[in-house]
Amino acid sequence: MESLKFLAVRGLFLVLLLSSAAVSSVIGIGVNWGTQSTHPLPPATVVKLLKDNGIQKVKLFDADPVVLNALAKSGIEVMVGIPNDMLYSLANSIQDAENWVAKNLSSYISSTSVDIRYVAVGNEPFLKTFNGSFLGTTFPALQNIQAAIVKAGLSTRVKVTVPMNADVYQSLTTVPSGGDFRSDIHDLMLSIVKFLSDSESPFTVNIYPFISLYADPNFPIDYAFFDGFSQALDDNGRVYDNVFTANYDTLVSSLQKNGFPNMSIIVGEIGWPTDGDRNANLQFAKRFSQGFLSRFVSGQGTPMRPGPIDAYLFSLIDEDAKSIQPGNFERHWGLFYYDGRPKYMLQMANGTRSLVPASNVKYQAKQWCVLSPSASLDDPQIAPSVSYACENSDCTSLGFQTSCGALDARQNISYAFNSYYQIKNQVASSCKFPHLSVISTQDPSVGSCRFIVMTQPSEVAVNEKSKALRYSAGSLLLFLCFFILAVL
Ligand SMILES: *[C@@H]1O[C@H](CO)[C@@H](O)[C@H](O)[C@H]1NC(C)=O
Ligand SMILES: *[C@@H]1O[C@H](CO)[C@@H](O)[C@H](O)[C@H]1NC(C)=O
Ligand SMILES: *[C@@H]1O[C@H](CO)[C@@H](O)[C@H](O)[C@H]1NC(C)=O
Ligand SMILES: *[C@@H]1O[C@H](CO)[C@@H](O)[C@H](O)[C@H]1NC(C)=O
Ligand SMILES: *[C@@H]1O[C@H](CO)[C@@H](O)[C@H](O)[C@H]1NC(C)=O
Repeated sequence: MESLKFLAVRGLFLVLLLSSAAVSSVIGIGVNWGTQSTHPLPPATVVKLLKDNGIQKVKLFDADPVVLNALAKSGIEVMVGIPNDMLYSLANSIQDAENWVAKNLSSYISSTSVDIRYVAVGNEPFLKTFNGSFLGTTFPALQNIQAAIVKAGLSTRVKVTVPMNADVYQSLTTVPSGGDFRSDIHDLMLSIVKFLSDSESPFTVNIYPFISLYADPNFPIDYAFFDGFSQALDDNGRVYDNVFTANYDTLVSSLQKNGFPNMSIIVGEIGWPTDGDRNANLQFAKRFSQGFLSRFVSGQGTPMRPGPIDAYLFSLIDEDAKSIQPGNFERHWGLFYYDGRPKYMLQMANGTRSLVPASNVKYQAKQWCVLSPSASLDDPQIAPSVSYACENSDCTSLGFQTSCGALDARQNISYAFNSYYQIKNQVASSCKFPHLSVISTQDPSVGSCRFIVMTQPSEVAVNEKSKALRYSAGSLLLFLCFFILAVL
């Protein structure tokens, strides 16, 4: 407790110092911090992970108080998010928008000094798979949030944006210079772009070369990466040897064609998954991420926009509770595994930095649930047991050409049982598949296939929450004491 108080006092001085400092943006790569996990690491652990890796910008998908409190006084720039399902109420009520800004922006910026720079209004709201559900609400919600930000006096500090999927524009020819916004949403996009431009806010786009490859088996694989492609595209002397650059410049030309040649662009999500598909593996992910970092973040930019690119890698840590509707790879986008271990070596900054693991991660016991050696593969209970285990856990690493794709039938079953057992926090009842399962203290991992031991459940996160509450109450008391002392 004493050290906490000391930190709080020191924090106060920092706040006083920082609030007089000029607001300037950090260059360098950001990351997306999503929390759709059965066992999220404690937010304080994640913030330390960010700092240890020199990551100075983070993009969130909502405004979770536990996460925001952990980011207080970290010096990390934050983009908070408004989920699509809130757009309707924010579009229809100025009051709701003002409440959102008061609760989720003003309070953090003033009382705990979270360095919030952007509000992402919606997430890929015009994605074709949403069937137009958010076409009517995104722009009014954006306008209401911006009005509320202005009213709160935060408009020079916090900018609004709408992360769009790259499917909102396309090339009408086959080269980037033919870019324009999708015809069915052309006018709406222009209204939004004009509004963003008027409020000096950036255009945010998510670009996924992996999906190009996933969706089209004939997509030339080298064109997805950044180390050369023999059939580079020549667009009136501008040469494109990777799909990211071509895509980015298609956006630049779409903006230019419609009168916004100088609009700033943020790449809201970019990355490569490491499992769950034949093209999702460590080699490709490293090749993509390192190529992107080296070439764009500190470097040359694109033919139409030279200079560093502002981007947020997708994502920080694997999320085992994400929907796999897009594909089994969806739970494997992290630079780090579920437990904060780096997946591969990556130079994050311009120097020699390699990824540093999360510290003090607490695991459950070193034990696994596996298929009993005496069980017969002909047992009719096996199929329903495996189905049940996989439906209620995560079997996305099983399958053709994935990290566990080479397991034999018995190992496959063990993998499913263990996945369920770990997600259920190793409670004894979760390893009671009828006469089929036993608990083992022998690690069944084989080759690239890791049978996990889960981290401790999120009671840690709950503790964080109450600590954060106590912490701000403590700060207030200390502030009053400090104030009184100063007056005396
Ligand atoms: C603040 O954000 C959280 C998380 O996104 C959300 O649940 C809550 O409704 C927001 N508060 C208001 C007043 O809109
Ligand atoms: C969009 O429409 C398709 C086909 O009508 C439907 O299957 C799907 O569930 C819809 N998606 C959403 C998000 O409403
Ligand atoms: C874009 O920026 C250039 C260079 O600063 C400037 O000359 C030009 O007028 C700007 N164009 C628009 C449309 O703002
Ligand atoms: C990164 O290093 C390169 C080559 O040494 C240099 O040209 C570039 O300016 C550096 N970028 C940053 C952001 O430090
Ligand atoms: C292992 O499980 C996966 C996914 O359920 C399946 O596709 C594969 O055929 C199985 N392999 C064996 C050897 O049973």
